[in-house]
Amino acid sequence: MADRKAVVLVARRTFDDAIARLREHFEVRVNDDDAVWPQDELIRRLQGVYITGSEQIDATLLDACPDLRAVCSMAVGYNNVDLPACTARGVLVSNAPDVLTETTADFGFALMMATARRISESEHFLRRGEWHKWSYDMFAGSDVHGSTLGILGMGRIGQAIARRGHLGFGMRVIYHNRSRLAPALEAPLAAQWVEKDALLQQADHLVIVVPYSPASHHAIGARELGLMKPSATLTNIARGGVVDDAALAQALATRRIAAAGLDVFEGEPQVHPGLLTVPNVVLTPHIASASIPTRLAMSHLAVDNLIAALSGGRPPTALNPELLNRGAEPA
Ligand code: 8YV
Repeated sequence: MADRKAVVLVARRTFDDAIARLREHFEVRVNDDDAVWPQDELIRRLQGVYITGSEQIDATLLDACPDLRAVCSMAVGYNNVDLPACTARGVLVSNAPDVLTETTADFGFALMMATARRISESEHFLRRGEWHKWSYDMFAGSDVHGSTLGILGMGRIGQAIARRGHLGFGMRVIYHNRSRLAPALEAPLAAQWVEKDALLQQADHLVIVVPYSPASHHAIGARELGLMKPSATLTNIARGGVVDDAALAQALATRRIAAAGLDVFEGEPQVHPGLLTVPNVVLTPHIASASIPTRLAMSHLAVDNLIAALSGGRPPTALNPELLNRGAEPA
């Protein structure tokens, strides 16, 4: 019996190659305008959906789409997906780990360096035509090499940043994470687990890489910023909401800390107005994984997952793989 092809919605614009692969298997509907669709526009009777980190997949959407069988994201972070609600309804969810680790770590390190060395601030000064003479302390910032790198969240990306800091720049690496790394992972990085407050007190450059969850909401707020060195920098490449942006804007305005580098924001693409007016912050629009090869790899991983999930295969990076074994259990 010829099966009706599953209908797959690609919720955001993506690489043509990725769409072509999906078309070989499914009836594909593409969001050609690349608008971020609110939930009520996500199509009913959906069977598979390719999403990014922006689309909200929650119980309301799942109840409105009873045919949905797979939600496959090109992002590694999946705080926009209610995983328990999907699992309870038998909806397979996948994310895109590993393929973006090194690219994201490159960017996190670059943002930290740009922040420490005041690159954006000095470029704006130059573009405004204000550079009339050289002076000894013009845009003097802080050193990265030989300083203490503090990492909050020591998953794959945190470890990749630690490698860059320790092996490339001779940094002392301290980190805080729910669980300590195995000694075999700590040793080559000379990485030392410390309590969160000690991390904040000792870091010259704090990089935040912890996933967003209710437990990490405002993990960095006024109290935490108050513990940091006045000369320290803070870089956030994790998720908006991990840092209290209002408290950070205040800490930057009062020079409670020296500077910040931010790729993610609470309520993005809106940015807290206090962050737009202070000079000592480098702002980028959530582009840490944005190299062409990496975005392509993220897309293809989402497609691999969709094809497997809707064709009875094993999705390579399923977040609820327990669903896959259900059919195999004896009745
Ligand atoms: C993505 C990210 O570009 O993968 C993630 O979790 O934050 C970024 O790399 C973005 O989320 C895609 O929507």
